[in-house]
Amino acid sequence: MPWKLRPYQPRDFAALHRLDQDCFPPGIAYTRAGLRYFLNQNGAQCLVAEEGRRIVGFLVAEENRPLAHIITLDVEEGHRKRGVGTALLKEMEQNLAARGVQAILLEAAVNNETAVAFWRKHGYRSEAVLKRYYLGRVDAYEMRKVLPGAGEAGRSEEKSRER
Ligand SMILES: CC(C)(COP(=O)(O)OP(=O)(O)OC[C@H]1O[C@@H](n2cnc3c(N)ncnc32)[C@H](O)[C@@H]1OP(=O)(O)O)[C@@H](O)C(=O)NCCC(=O)NCCS
Repeated sequence: MPWKLRPYQPRDFAALHRLDQDCFPPGIAYTRAGLRYFLNQNGAQCLVAEEGRRIVGFLVAEENRPLAHIITLDVEEGHRKRGVGTALLKEMEQNLAARGVQAILLEAAVNNETAVAFWRKHGYRSEAVLKRYYLGRVDAYEMRKVLPGAGEAGRSEEKSRER
């Protein structure tokens, strides 16, 4: 594969912001301040996929053990369906599991069929519909995956959230 994964560095910020603007519609894409906020959170984890010197994908997660939250996963349009998103997600899941995270949560717009198919393929299950979550009008699935090897805490955490 021509691209490599590596941790985010502050000099990547402008490229990540540009990519996020390309990946999401206005109002859902992050502002500079919004993206910076998530990258600067305690527990923020960010991986980038780079081809040559060009960033073609990135994933931001926030760790708050025993849970983590995926903030965003963005792959450049011309590089989709080639495994970039899968590689970013697998590496992040491994890193989080090694640090004691037991389950990962995320939100996906119900009309983002590509993303919902991607998350389902990777074992994320819809737990709830968050009404008017995006732009005050688009519903979102709240999705969750319990990581392989999660201890009892991860499973009981999951039980307590069942509806
Ligand atoms: C969702 C996204 C990150 C997927 O990244 P990607 O690098 O294209 O994904 P992969 O190549 O690793 O695909 C893995 C699997 O996801 C699913 N998938 C990916 N693109 C799909 C599509 N267009 N239609 C249906 N399923 C799709 C498939 O199951 C695919 O497996 P397959 O290749 O064996 O069919 C990418 O489409 C993207 O950046 N979209 C815009 C931003 C976004 O919506 N992010 C998610 C926010 S919740």
